[in-house]
Amino acid sequence: MSFIKNINDFKKAKVEDHNITMVTCYDFAFGKLIEESNVDTILVGDSLGNVMAGFDNTIPVTVDQMIYHSQIVKRGAPSKFVVTDMPFMSYHVSIEETLRNAGRIMKEGNCNAIKLEGGEDFASTVEALVRASIPVMAHLGLTPQSVHKLGGYSVQGREEDKRKIMISDAKKLEDAGAFALVLEMVPEDLAREISESISIPTIGIGAGRFCDGQVLVLHDLLGMDDKFTPKFLKKYADLASIVRNSVNQYVHEVEKGVFPGEENVFSATKGNVKKVY
Ligand code: KIV
Repeated sequence: MSFIKNINDFKKAKVEDHNITMVTCYDFAFGKLIEESNVDTILVGDSLGNVMAGFDNTIPVTVDQMIYHSQIVKRGAPSKFVVTDMPFMSYHVSIEETLRNAGRIMKEGNCNAIKLEGGEDFASTVEALVRASIPVMAHLGLTPQSVHKLGGYSVQGREEDKRKIMISDAKKLEDAGAFALVLEMVPEDLAREISESISIPTIGIGAGRFCDGQVLVLHDLLGMDDKFTPKFLKKYADLASIVRNSVNQYVHEVEKGVFPGEENVFSATKGNVKKVY
């Protein structure tokens, strides 16, 4: 059972001390499985650029791609609260363009809210979106769309001045109307201080134990890439081995004439299938 049914449940979760759970999802097949899980909410993250498309970063991801993935996830997981990322440069040029892009993501992508990266500079953008009835999840700390500005993927907020800025950004985003805040790759004590200083829930990834919730990339927690082993990640399965072994077993059985077996074939009079592609 998901605790989160609508936007009001995010604040309720914080008040009632329920740790919010979020996973990324990018397609219908996993959407169906997540629909049957107890996870509270889904993020259609622009990390799909890395995970699904094999880019080095999230910068090439487009609004149309986010809409497509959002649609197919929601088709698989209709009861889940789905947050969809606004991709790089889709909310930077002007408020008018931002509203148009966010409106498309909500209307065509069929999601419940959008997420965008950035601090004080984006507070007026958050305000405009919320005024247009578009709920906004904010994102501070490591903001992957700024990888070139940051000079890589590293823990953010270790220096005293950066720490103060992040705490102030979090308050400004809350004041602007964001309903939740993702904290990515932030020292645990800073994430704790931010979580205790705002009334909207924080959802951490690499931000320690004191956030109001946690988010992980689904493919990471399922162990789809055995070379990806960051400190913040816990793998709950080893799907990489399962996939490789299953495909090799299939190849072996076809080569040996074991598959298809008698139970897999149609005769002139017997056997059919209920559903084909
Ligand atoms: O795109 C994404 O998957 C994200 C999470 C890492 C929070 O923004």
